[in-house]
Amino acid sequence: MSRTLKRLLVAGAAGFIGSNFVRHVRKTRPDVDIAVLDKLTYAGNLANLREFEGTRGYRFVHGDVCDADLVNTLAGQVDAIVNFAAETHVDRSLMDPFAFIETDVRGTAVLCEAARRYGHQAFLLVSTDEVYGQVSEGRSREDDSFRPRSPYSASKAGGEHIAHAYAESFGLPLLVTRGSNNYGPFQYPEKLVPVLVTNAIDGMKLPLYNDGSAVRDYIYVEDHCRAIDLVLHEAAVGGVYNVGTGLETTGLQVAEAVLEITGKPRSLIEFVADRPGHDYRYALDISRISALGWEPQVSFAEGLERTVRWYEHHQDWWRPLKSGDYWEYYKRNYRPLST
Ligand code: NAD
Ligand code: TYD
Repeated sequence: MSRTLKRLLVAGAAGFIGSNFVRHVRKTRPDVDIAVLDKLTYAGNLANLREFEGTRGYRFVHGDVCDADLVNTLAGQVDAIVNFAAETHVDRSLMDPFAFIETDVRGTAVLCEAARRYGHQAFLLVSTDEVYGQVSEGRSREDDSFRPRSPYSASKAGGEHIAHAYAESFGLPLLVTRGSNNYGPFQYPEKLVPVLVTNAIDGMKLPLYNDGSAVRDYIYVEDHCRAIDLVLHEAAVGGVYNVGTGLETTGLQVAEAVLEITGKPRSLIEFVADRPGHDYRYALDISRISALGWEPQVSFAEGLERTVRWYEHHQDWWRPLKSGDYWEYYKRNYRPLST
């Protein structure tokens, strides 16, 4: 199975993973035309795509995936949609669930409808391992049921359900990737890795919820982008793929590794009040994507080293983000561990 896609609409690509995906496609498939649609929320940043401005075959459209007229116009000009657009941070979903429902569910539905209307070759939904919910034992397989526990993961699950319904009812040529926790360059400093890295650079405390024991599968963003590209071009329609490394790392281990690389003291670690509904473990079975010919290439040690160096060398990128509203959010989110 191999599909040739000449024109892509990439929704949500001024954010972290989408912008890395555009970089990957520009490098590996320079003849593919890319239109990016992004609302530029607090997490979207044109600086993430600056190197492509004015280049042939690339354009940026500022807009909302919930805007059906705009989405239809853009969908009529491409062969496929890849959807990264979403509200993505669990802690913010606890403060404002409806923003998540609007973009992650309704926005996905608007994109599905447009893809169906224009008879696209493929619709790839970038989903998440969080739809499976907390996994106390074993590993999630693609056919497992959804048990989301946060407004974020429930909204992502809702968007996925809509997309599957479009596939069943209307023949939408759906592809789904369920990625684990990404880290790497251009990640907004609210998720664990960039919070820890930027705080460590500044000698600030590294906040870990409760006892830092929650487990995630941390994947370097370039590995995730290669997997999305592979599924988009090589997977049979209907394919759903877990994308992760299969390894398990606690928050405390991430913090210790960041302190080691930055040469900062262990005393910077601070245990703080837990996140409500905190999922303590995600773990993926990655045999299906492995059989498609993908494997992670960047180890956690190598990827974290690269990430720390990137944040050290791109302070002009992240320092402006850590101001004003950011600190309002930070103060609201982090509370002392009650004893
Ligand atoms: P991000 O928060 O960095 O970027 C999200 C982007 O979507 C931003 O540019 C934002 O402006 C845009 N956006 C939000 N609402 C929009 C709307 N209504 N219309 C148009 N654009 C809108 O997120 P990310 O970490 O790059 O995640 C991208 C996708 O990957 C998301 O769908 C997320 O659920 C999924 N995912 C993320 C991870 C992870 O670890 N970060 C893991 C697995 C899956
Ligand atoms: P996060 O990066 O928010 O991703 P996820 O969507 O998987 O929760 O958090 C990763 C893990 O790190 C999760 O167990 C929560 C924890 N965490 C902290 O301990 N401190 C923090 O400041 C953040 C943002 C997360």
